[in-house]
Amino acid sequence: MESLSESPSKQEIELLPYGEKYHPYHNKYVDFWRQSLADPMRFWDERARELVWYRTWDRVLDDSNPPFYRWFVGGETNVNLNALDRWMNTHVANKVAYYWEGEDGTTRVLSYRDLFREVNKFARALQDLGVKPNDTVTIYLPMIPELPISMLAVTRIGGIHSVVFSGFSPSALADRIVDAKSRVLITADGYWRKGKVVELKKNADEGVRLAEERGAKVDKVIVVRRLGNQVAWNEGRDVWYHELVSKYPENTYVKPVPRKADDVLFILYTSGTTGKPKGIMHSVGGYMVYVYNVFKWNWDIRPEDVHWTMADVGWITGHTYIVYGPLLNGATEVMYEGAIDYPQPDRPWQIVERYGVTIFYTSPTALRMLRQYGDEWVKKHDLSTLRILGTVGEPINPDVWKWYFEVVGRGKCPIVDTWWMTETGAAMIAPAPGISLVQLKPGSATFPMPGIEADVLDESGKPTPPGVKGYLVIKRPWPGMLLGVWGDPERYVKTYWSRFPGYFYPGDYAVKDEEGYFWLLGRADEVLKVAGHRIGTAELEDTLIKHPAVAEAAVIGVPDPIKGEVPVAAVVLKAGYRPSEDLKKELIDMIRTNIGPIATPQAILFVSKLPKTRSGKIMRRLLKDIMEGRPLGDTTTLEDPTAVDELKRAWDEFK
Ligand code: WTA
Repeated sequence: MESLSESPSKQEIELLPYGEKYHPYHNKYVDFWRQSLADPMRFWDERARELVWYRTWDRVLDDSNPPFYRWFVGGETNVNLNALDRWMNTHVANKVAYYWEGEDGTTRVLSYRDLFREVNKFARALQDLGVKPNDTVTIYLPMIPELPISMLAVTRIGGIHSVVFSGFSPSALADRIVDAKSRVLITADGYWRKGKVVELKKNADEGVRLAEERGAKVDKVIVVRRLGNQVAWNEGRDVWYHELVSKYPENTYVKPVPRKADDVLFILYTSGTTGKPKGIMHSVGGYMVYVYNVFKWNWDIRPEDVHWTMADVGWITGHTYIVYGPLLNGATEVMYEGAIDYPQPDRPWQIVERYGVTIFYTSPTALRMLRQYGDEWVKKHDLSTLRILGTVGEPINPDVWKWYFEVVGRGKCPIVDTWWMTETGAAMIAPAPGISLVQLKPGSATFPMPGIEADVLDESGKPTPPGVKGYLVIKRPWPGMLLGVWGDPERYVKTYWSRFPGYFYPGDYAVKDEEGYFWLLGRADEVLKVAGHRIGTAELEDTLIKHPAVAEAAVIGVPDPIKGEVPVAAVVLKAGYRPSEDLKKELIDMIRTNIGPIATPQAILFVSKLPKTRSGKIMRRLLKDIMEGRPLGDTTTLEDPTAVDELKRAWDEFK
């Protein structure tokens, strides 16, 4: 394995400074782990009792109808009870919940009490607008405090939120509104991105128009004023957020609506191997218990910490590590609106210094980008408050890991490489500085979290020997697992539980080394991670073939030094159409308007045919081999071998 041979062996960095003095579990960590696997029901029962419930559960896990596992059944709670209400009678009430910084330098500081008040007022406003328990509310907001406020207000009254990343296009927003059947949308007038105004309200209007064309009915659009830019107004439908909440007194209180532990807390759409994004459903009880604990374990979180997840709340990383994880732990979080290299490449380090960030969490893509600007940008700032660094979203190259460790962390901060996904709720394989003393290896996410049992299997479902690549599986249910796919139970069973019956299949390649460390090696299916964002090649292909000139399209990911991976499309035109720069531009525009700029292909290659097997299947592996410059293996199953030469020529020309 490439990453294995690159890794220095045993003289590795230890986590010792963390945990030894501070953590109650220290010295008992092996017991802790053992107990978590030997008696998981007792283990999770104890973990869940650290939180507040209206009613405790009758059973920790109902596994009577696999794979529809249900956690803490009979239990009732509301995530607000634990994220906000329980702090009100403690010193946490006056503690900072969010240090917010706009790209333009505007700042806001919200204490837990401020957040509590805002959430209550907005919760009442939503109730008065007619939002009922189990209603879905779509949230299309930039990185501003009203985003977590909206999520909490919706869940407080028993609603289900569906957050749509603000960088998604109107068309992508429309699909998600339709699928979730949302009648209420929360958005903003605009926001800053790389010094330019993004007119979000315009996108939202277009999204609602398309959604209604596709059968939805949106009654209310609530608009947060972030910039004060001019926006079109639809009387009767649109309402300003600030006008809405200013009607309610400061001390407005809405009792958090009791929810069943296995009710849906939120939906978050993510990409799979078909063109249609799937709504991943997370549960009220299980997600809360898992996220609360894992956030604590990953960061060894202490009262004085200032935690910063440099990601967008529009993705699961933000849901768990900017909103629910920190708030459930009464932690202070930093929230930043804009581009990480604007106006200069030291923006993140300036923020770390300004707020005294102690724990910093981001993606390998962001690190590769920041490293490229040179160490002097990092060294300009006093980063001595940092004590733990984290990464997520893609495999981290060992050399980037070492740069992070040495330059950003001054050789003192453990790197917490967290492997997980939208479906798992929070980290699954990652070091836990507070409770474990394992040595780190650059590029390995180390071991499964307590309560998690993972393995690597070959095609036939047998565990692979050390050092041999295979498929990652999770061998037993865990509280943070998805409830299912919104409106599509079959897809849930088929995608995650059919490849290796009885086990959860994430779709990742992995390898275990001789010491049992897990190394995650990227997706094993047609899903890309472009700059850490999850994108299905089928979504791009479905979009491309909507163009009247396109007969066929195949999209694959090719390695990129900064983004990890970028999409490249091979396109066959219909008779009568000729390749041109204009057509290329049209196709790229289509992707941008149908999905969003994050999915923009790096190249569009026009070819007269795609390499296919005799049975008509596109040989994507071959496409990848060509573009990655690997020798082509067996091509005898190809229907027409000239397809390969043509593709090679097109790719060489592009490069
Ligand atoms: C990948 C992001 C290697 C993996 C939280 C997974 C990783 C997909 C890591 C999920 C990591 C995430 N090392 N690969 N530390 N973390 N991945 O749903 O391929 O956006 O299947 O969730 O990201 O992406 P998602």
